[in-house]
Amino acid sequence: MSHLIAPSVLSADFGNLQRDCEMLNRSECDWYHVDIMDGVFVPNMSFGFPVLKSIQQHAKKPLDVHLMIVDPDRYLEEFKNFGATNITVHIEACTHLHRTIQKIKALGCKAGVALNPHTSVSLLEDIICDLDLVILMSVNPGYGGQKFIENTYMKTHKLKDMTVRKNSEALIEIDGGVNQENASKLVDIGANILVAGNFVFSSADPVATIAALKKL
Ligand code: DX5
Ligand code: ZN
Repeated sequence: MSHLIAPSVLSADFGNLQRDCEMLNRSECDWYHVDIMDGVFVPNMSFGFPVLKSIQQHAKKPLDVHLMIVDPDRYLEEFKNFGATNITVHIEACTHLHRTIQKIKALGCKAGVALNPHTSVSLLEDIICDLDLVILMSVNPGYGGQKFIENTYMKTHKLKDMTVRKNSEALIEIDGGVNQENASKLVDIGANILVAGNFVFSSADPVATIAALKKL
């Protein structure tokens, strides 16, 4: 499988959301990456259901929902109803992670777990075979436009090894500070999905930037 590109809508122009969704629809991107922040798990708030509803109305590609919220179990069904294809929760926010993953799957969504930069990949040993994807945060979550943390390469290697060793089909998604410089290396060492927010939306020609990331 060639790698997927998931632009983060967090960096879109919310005054022109329909325009930006139409740009993503005609681009070569594969998924919409949708960042939900609650101001508790992360020191920032993004947007909630009314905005997600607009995204759902205009998006013609799967919605990859990344929940940076405490106690995500409360809202899983609503996210499913607002069009989420994938729902990813943070390992640091879930006391009963296995149960949460089973709930996401029971809703008919793909289930993912995200790890903050300080969280060891080894914590996934006993759940990796239940996961459809893992998001390795390559910045501390909360904001777009931050600098890529280099230790992510090591974590990607470790996670790739684990998926092979355990015969897991979980895809590896890298989120934060992805750009043309680090993208090829990430894909070479096993990343399956690249999230890119600022790099895409602040470029002069986002459609061409997405095409370049897709080509690598
Ligand atoms: C960070 C979010 C990321 C972010 C990526 O908290 O989870 O998805 O929007 O944006 P860039 O690519 O600008 O780092
Ligand atoms: Zn994200």
